[in-house]
Amino acid sequence: MSSIDKSKPIGVVGAGAMGRGIIQVFAQSGFDVLVHDANSSAIESALATIEKLLNRSVSKERITDDERDATLKRITPVGNVSEFKSVQLFVEAASEKPEIKKTIFKAVDKVLAGDAIRATNTSSISITELAAVTGNPSLFIGMHFFNPVPVMKLVEIVMGLETSDATYDKVHALAEAVGKTPLRANDHPGFVSNRILMPMINEAILCMQDGVARPEAIDGIMQLGMAHPMGPLRLADLIGLDVCYDILNVLHRDLGEDKYRPAPLLRKMVLAGRLGNKTKQGFYTYE
Ligand code: 3HC
Repeated sequence: MSSIDKSKPIGVVGAGAMGRGIIQVFAQSGFDVLVHDANSSAIESALATIEKLLNRSVSKERITDDERDATLKRITPVGNVSEFKSVQLFVEAASEKPEIKKTIFKAVDKVLAGDAIRATNTSSISITELAAVTGNPSLFIGMHFFNPVPVMKLVEIVMGLETSDATYDKVHALAEAVGKTPLRANDHPGFVSNRILMPMINEAILCMQDGVARPEAIDGIMQLGMAHPMGPLRLADLIGLDVCYDILNVLHRDLGEDKYRPAPLLRKMVLAGRLGNKTKQGFYTYE
């Protein structure tokens, strides 16, 4: 197993819901984190959210004022990815669009050290396809975190066709160093997590569409009957209905089976701009 070197920073591109969680867990575990987002207001909003969550931990006496301040000090926004030269691990958490991710990896690949690991937090894009735009696919890997990142224990580590075992070992060790449980999967549509989760969410939407039950009853049945922490419709709102729709389209296209076809109601919700928590309107309304 690889040993962990906290003297070298972590680079993150993307300060949205997933990116800010990734930034927080690395910084809280003692790593310096360099952060870039094309949209500087996303970084401001990410820092404000991280500070709010850390303040909450202070008020619950889980961390001290000094620990909060030290965590915030370890996060450095950078205007350009050219500042990622010294990072040991680069994590991409940008929009779930292949072309955007490929553009980022092409730019960052030119800057990163020859042995730095290139990781993507993609939920469904092929790791092998993204690795192919970099100079050394053996250093490329999927590091799939779960929302909300500071709370969820899992990191699904996804091996591309050419990812080396040494890269896996290092990422496994880094995931454990930030308090997560890493589990290994191979590059295949939806990996393990979304191949199983998304058909369940889709089926819940089909139940709603077919009038089988009200959303509250569908969610309540899964929470109380199956001990899920939240029902599938509320979970879809948390993930983002656009994200669920994109992942189902990847499963449907790449696995070629009707069972993965997105529910028409999901498509309509996305077309209407009702994307869940982030737009305050999804299967439920949020304050
Ligand atoms: N960010 C940080 N912390 C959060 C949070 C957030 N967005 N939401 C909740 N929390 C924290 C709360 O602050 C609270 O912390 P505390 O113990 O310090 O008070 C703790 O989580 C529990 O929160 P609540 O008491 O408010 O509510 P719940 O007990 O219902 O827990 C939940 C909320 C953790 C979101 C829980 O409902 C849950 O586990 N839901 C399922 C989440 C899930 O399945 N995520 C995976 C989505 S799939 C994915 O991300 C993959 C992608 O590829 C699609």
